[in-house]
Formats: sequence, C-alpha cells, structure tokens
Amino acid sequence: MSWRRKNNAFLCLLSQIIRIGITYLYRDHKHTMRTFTLFSSLLLSAALTAQSFYNPVTIPPTLSGTTFNLNVAPAVHQFFNSVNTPTYGINGTYLGPTLLMNQGDSVAINVSNNLNETTTMHWHGMHVPAWTDGGPHTEIPAGTTWQIGYKVMNPASTNWYHPHTHMSTGNQVYMGLAGMLIVKDTVEAQLNLPRTYGTDDFPLVLQDRSFNSNGTFFIEGLADSMLVNGTPHAYLDCPAQVVRLRLLNGSNVRTYNIGFSDNRSFYVIASDGGLLAQPYLTNRLLITNGERYEILLDLTNSQGNTFNLMSYASQFAGNEPGGSGMMNGNSPLNGVDFGIMQLNVVAPTGSPVTQVPATLIAVNPLQAANANLTRYKSIDGMGMFTNMANFSFNNTPFNMMFINDTIVLNNTEIWQFTNNSNLAHPIHIHDIEFYVLSRNGNAPPAYEGGLKDVFYIKPNDVVRVIAKFEDFADDTVPYMYHCHNLMHEDNGMMAQFIVVSSMNSIDNNTAEDLQPVIFPNPAGDFVNLQLPDVIIQNTAEIVVTDNLGRLVYFSATTDKQVQLKTTGWNNGLYTITVRSGAMLWHSKLLVNH
Ligand code: C2O
Ligand code: CU
Repeated sequence: MSWRRKNNAFLCLLSQIIRIGITYLYRDHKHTMRTFTLFSSLLLSAALTAQSFYNPVTIPPTLSGTTFNLNVAPAVHQFFNSVNTPTYGINGTYLGPTLLMNQGDSVAINVSNNLNETTTMHWHGMHVPAWTDGGPHTEIPAGTTWQIGYKVMNPASTNWYHPHTHMSTGNQVYMGLAGMLIVKDTVEAQLNLPRTYGTDDFPLVLQDRSFNSNGTFFIEGLADSMLVNGTPHAYLDCPAQVVRLRLLNGSNVRTYNIGFSDNRSFYVIASDGGLLAQPYLTNRLLITNGERYEILLDLTNSQGNTFNLMSYASQFAGNEPGGSGMMNGNSPLNGVDFGIMQLNVVAPTGSPVTQVPATLIAVNPLQAANANLTRYKSIDGMGMFTNMANFSFNNTPFNMMFINDTIVLNNTEIWQFTNNSNLAHPIHIHDIEFYVLSRNGNAPPAYEGGLKDVFYIKPNDVVRVIAKFEDFADDTVPYMYHCHNLMHEDNGMMAQFIVVSSMNSIDNNTAEDLQPVIFPNPAGDFVNLQLPDVIIQNTAEIVVTDNLGRLVYFSATTDKQVQLKTTGWNNGLYTITVRSGAMLWHSKLLVNH
C-alpha cells in the first residue's frame, strides 16, 4: 500500500467523522428518514477539503464484434462495503458494458428484458432507423427480447445507450441502466491519439446518486453522492503521458462544470458526434445531461502528481442545474466546488502518446443558407429542476399519439429554440447530429463547433442548430426530441417527429368510410373538413403541413364540420392529418388560388 493510499484511508476516517456532523446539519425534514447515512459520500463540500478517494474506478468491460447481447435485469450491487443496494444492471449489477463498434459494420443487437417492468433501449447519438432507435414507442415488455440490427454510420465518437421508457426513463437510468457505446473509424485510427481502452483511454460516466440508510437508492433529481462508472470515492491511476478521458454526463439532472483542482488546462478533442477540427485548450468545460466530451490531459511531466477532477459548481447560477438556491433543492453538492474523482499520475506505459496533435479532422458545418426551412421551438413552463413542473416545447406537453413535426427526408433544417422558461435545460434531438449555428446571435464557442446532439440553453437564450435529416424515413415510428433532464423529460418536456420520404408518400391509412371528407379539393380560399363520428367522440387534432413538412395550421376541435381559411397559403400540395386518440388519418389537399 502506498503512502497515498494509507493517507487516503486516514482522511476517509477523518472525513466520515466530520460527515456525521455535517450530514446532520444538511438534513431537513425531507431527508430525516435517512439521517446519518455514513456512506452517502461527498457531503463534504467546499467547506471541507478532506474529500477522500480510495476506490479504484471501475472500468466497464467491453463487448465488440457484430453481435451484442444485452441482458437487462434486477441486481444487487455493493457501492459501499457490505451494503447491498438493489439496482438494475445490463450484463452485470450496475451500468452496462462499453459497446465497441466499427463504422461500416452491420451489427445485430439483442436486448433481453428480465425486469418486472417494460423497458426500451435507445442508442443515444447513433444515426439509426426509427424502429431501431429505442424510443418510447418500441417497448420491450418484461420477459421478452428485442432483436434489431443496423449499420453503424456514425464517425468515430463516444455515444451511450439507456432506456427511454414512457414516463420511467429517469427511474430506470437511476437504477443503473446505461452504458457507453464507442464508435471507431479509419480516420480517427490514423491520428496519434491515445486509444487503448482502460490504459490511456478511459470511459468516465459521471452520475450523482443518493442512498437511504438501508442501502437502497433514494431516487431524487439532484443527489448527494458522486459515482464515476458506478464507483463512489473513485480514483484513477493515469500514466504520465497524454491520456484521453471520455466524459459522459449520465446524471438525471445535474450539470457539471469540469476542471482540475490544480487548475491545469486540458484539450477538448471531441464532442457528442465526434472529433473537432482541432484540440481546444481550456481549464473549464460545461457538460450537461447526455453530453459527451473527449478530453486529453498532457501528463508527460506530472508523474507523482495527485489532483482531482472537479465540478466548479459554485460558478452556476441558481437557475442552472446544480447551482445553489431553491430551484435546485437541497443537495449539498449544489452551488459548491466539489471533487468528482482523484487522478494519480503513475509511470508511463510502453510506447506512450506524448504529444497532443495540432489538428484532428476536417469539419464542414452545414450552412444556414442551405436550409430548407426554420422551425421555431419555444421552451415553456415554470418550475424547479427536480419537480413535476410542466415544462414543454411550444406549450404542448408530450403526447405519445401526436406527431409534433413531419420532416421530409433530406431536408436541411434550422431549429431555433427560445427558452421562455425559468430554468436552463439540456436539449437533445434523436436521429441526427447537428451543428450549433448560433447562441443569441453569436457563433458558438469552438468546443461546440463539431457535431453534437445535446445543447445547453439558459433562460432567455436563443439557440439555433442545423441538421440534415437523411438516410431513414418511416411514416409510423417517430424520433424524439426532449429535455435530457430526465425528470423534465418524463413529465412531458418531449416531442416527436417523423421523417417521410416525401409528403406525397404519406398514405391514407384507414378504411375509406372513416376518412374525413375534404372539399373542395383543389381548394381556393377555404376548405371544409367533415369529420366522421368516430373522430368527434374525442377531441380531434387537425394538423396541416406543406410539402416541406412545415406546419401551416393546427387546431384541436370537437366540431364535426371545420372550415379552414386557405387564403394565405401558397399554391401546392398539403397534407392534412387528423388525429384522435390512437387513430390517425392523412389526406392530401391541393391549394390552387
Ligand atoms: Cu439520451 Cu432521448 O435520449
Ligand atoms: Cu428541462
């Protein structure tokens, strides 16, 4: 045992003694049921320096090849010595293996659900057909196996997988269902980068969790104990050379403001969708829920050093997830700078990478001028990070049966989000990777210059992103976009889109006698809809989109006869979608003034 390890053991004991007192101070009535949780760690915030890191961080096992078998099941995991915590695991007791895939491979994936509840499995960041995307519509009932396959099209990147179950994504992820998915390609392979998994290339899943005194999880939004790959009080031995950390914010609610305790700089080399054009040198990096960043640390001259991976959360405002103040609740990690993990720099490996490359890959962002259209999304609602507040997009809470956007295959679209709510949110879009065009009219920071699928948006901010919706059309299974604060997502801050090969490809999909009657067609200045009785037993939603999928009309009605004014509409073909409950009808309308 090294001096450091002994020292840590001593600090641990010391800090636990202090913690009992602190724990008591921090607990309010909400927490009294679990006072004196000796093992709910890291309660020692900025006020106390004696944080202790004495567990070697778990490096998840890998699966590679072209067939991936995932067994999702209840388990018991010991995060703390002799303390049993009931969990969910994937091929294990907490979290899942890291999936290694090669661009261009066709992979088969079998997900067996041995839970006592329905789940789904989503490949966050992967560009895959909608029916394989694992959103809330593709359920895996308990006791069944979901068998899918897709071609790996993403470039080299750090992705992840997790359930997306309707209204229980947060709980299932909290219980342990998540894993990393690393894509490799030949372009990345030619760069002089660390890529030996677990040796100089480390996956780091950052999560906060709370525990009851009997060891069970205390499920809450902003928790009090940091886990890295499921390890509390984690340390990582890093060789004295250039090392690569693949950071994933796998927390339900908490955002991290990453830095190192000796204030050393590091290089951001990749964001969600892959490598940047060149390394970006910084000493702080915000990573919000669902985001991934790959960073390089140059440890060539640091052998013998010990320092902490930190979240400088004292720099967050109260309306950011993990800041201090009432919107965040009362986790002792809120609004303070805290250590996530300790890094110990040890002897270098054979043939180490000792230099950070000057350039990485060619990045060619989509240009705003090439967009077919802009969609405007407001973020609405008032509430807290951790409660059931009704945050939504365009004031429309998630409805499994309602398609919020219809996108024509190969459209290049700008989505402009305006945050009218009182909090910051992490926004994620499935199917595509996008480029951030602007933040409040300004170019994004360089580390946001590559492909991404999550962005952070503060109150009153306007963020424009641009993406091309290519390769996969499916007019029945939708893709999701949502807040990746899993409490917000589960409570309706989600919407869905379908990608269709053309607006003409949408077929009438119900028996003729149930079709809404549309006349006149072609229409001039107005069109009448006559809805069959079966529709108007419930509220019917009428959605009209033009031939690029742009929304031109929306209403909800209980009337049997509806007249739409078409005076302002351009000549051309439109799709009228009528939805009611689980039923949906599409019809074509030609407008010709
Ligand atoms: Cu990470 Cu829609 O999910
Ligand atoms: Cu949110």
